Amino acid sequence: MQKVNRVFLIAIFFFTCDANTKNAIEKSRIDSYHYSVIKKIIAGNGAVVSAHPLASKAGLEILKMGGNAIDAAIATQLALAVVFPNAGNIGGGGFMVARLSNGQLVSLDYREMAPGKAHRDMYIDPDGTARTDKSQDGHLASGVPGTVAGIFASMKYAKLPFAKLIQPAIDLAQKGFVISQREASSFNGLQGELKKFNTVMPVFVKGSWKAGDTLVQTDLANTLIRIRDQGAKGFYEGSTAKLIVEEMKRGGGIISYDDLKNYVAKFRVPHVFDYKGYQVVGMPMPSSGGVLLHQMMKMIEGRHIASMGFQSLQSVQLMTEVERRAFADRAEFMGDADFYKVPVKAITSTAYLQDRMKDFDPSKANVSSRIKAGNAIPYESEETTHLDVIDKDGNAVAITTTLNNSFGNKTVVGGAGFFLNDEMDDFSIKQGVPNMFGAIGGEANAIMPGKRMLSSMTPTIVLKDGKPFIIVGTPGGTTIPTSVFQTLVNIIEFGMSTEDAVYKPKFHHQWLPDTLDVEKGFPKSVRESLKGMGYAIRERSAIGRTEVIKVLPDGKFEAVADNRGEDAAEGW
Ligand code: DON
Repeated sequence: MQKVNRVFLIAIFFFTCDANTKNAIEKSRIDSYHYSVIKKIIAGNGAVVSAHPLASKAGLEILKMGGNAIDAAIATQLALAVVFPNAGNIGGGGFMVARLSNGQLVSLDYREMAPGKAHRDMYIDPDGTARTDKSQDGHLASGVPGTVAGIFASMKYAKLPFAKLIQPAIDLAQKGFVISQREASSFNGLQGELKKFNTVMPVFVKGSWKAGDTLVQTDLANTLIRIRDQGAKGFYEGSTAKLIVEEMKRGGGIISYDDLKNYVAKFRVPHVFDYKGYQVVGMPMPSSGGVLLHQMMKMIEGRHIASMGFQSLQSVQLMTEVERRAFADRAEFMGDADFYKVPVKAITSTAYLQDRMKDFDPSKANVSSRIKAGNAIPYESEETTHLDVIDKDGNAVAITTTLNNSFGNKTVVGGAGFFLNDEMDDFSIKQGVPNMFGAIGGEANAIMPGKRMLSSMTPTIVLKDGKPFIIVGTPGGTTIPTSVFQTLVNIIEFGMSTEDAVYKPKFHHQWLPDTLDVEKGFPKSVRESLKGMGYAIRERSAIGRTEVIKVLPDGKFEAVADNRGEDAAEGW
């Protein structure tokens, strides 16, 4: 390890891989980094893609041990909680969409819940000011974490014992891992907030981090060991629960023992729809992801987008207007369906979606103030994280998990070593007040005790003839559904290679604010023409970190990791 650390290998390998053999076909230096980062791999037995090379490796090892895709996804997710503390987590929540080898479709909701003491106006001052500072940072921003409950719920479909799946994470926390330049910079940028929002200074607090430093997380390792030995109770009860509740007391938070003990992950009926013969399997409420994707895909379905071409003025404008309309519905209708009646059937019906597009004008921009819901960003670094896994038996898993903001509420539970989420900000804390992603909402997404805040996460599996074809997802707040939408359109309609579909610049419209965000590198001429049609354009840096596994015609798995981050693919 030491030797490798000093060497700082800097490599991206583009691999092709026949069953057990790998051939590096291209190699390039990009950044000071201590291990190879595989951006694309073609594999016959199984593949994993995630935001961190060590997490993808953990999943690969589990596949090689005889684990299935669920086993590997659990191991990858737990490893991410150690090596990608920005978003990988046990103090947050997420969603899993899976297609099992027997054809069964599964969706699992382990989204955070509002604590029992939460209430609708908890972030509104007596003078009516909405306190987004409190919903975004510090102890009060945190929902009751769901990740550990979700992992144990998903064990229903696992093959290997849990102790094996969590071991790579324990090892990485106990022995430490060497950080990259990017990781060092992100820890350095966090120091002020860490000091402000922590009652016990965590290991992340340090004069200066540099590439090559080793991050050891002993408290986190001990928490993971308790989870290994005691199951979900190792988190929701006993010493870990005590550490969380004591942390809440020290910092003015409201999560209680009962909140922790009562947390449940929920299997839900996946949101499934057809698109030109493909079956798209997505997440239902409390994520808006599946429904938004459904609406957007259906609004373009009959409009011959393939003939317009990738990033032509016409196709971008059409997709922008479709995104605008879907997000207007999000703000009005969507929230936790256990608490609010979301008219899913109505707003995804053909007649409704045709009606939504009645005022679409291909020659000019619509205006959001006139596009209301139908009848029936600030740019902090974006850190949710998505992973995909597939195995040789046809089990396919897509998981998106998050602390919300990068490093969540910036509070590490004293003595327990993990960051808490700031997911309460995903509720509509006051009607019309934008959350950190600029999304607004109202009654459907108002805070209530035990309710889950509306999400945009869109873990998605596309089936062709009933078999996995594309597994996809990304972080990016409200840009998540639009990035997944564009990636699928790129592959299915524009016939693009998976790398191009992922790497080419994306764009985003979310109804309000009424601006079209385009990623750096978006073609200038199209941008200028869109301006001429009346669109307010904003340029922004990376949109998402999309991970894709595609099943090739010969049955092999092509895994592509986004080049916007240090994301990595593995396979064998
Ligand atoms: O659930 C949601 O929609 C957000 N909490 C996701 C946050 C996110 O993607 C952050 N960064 N990429």
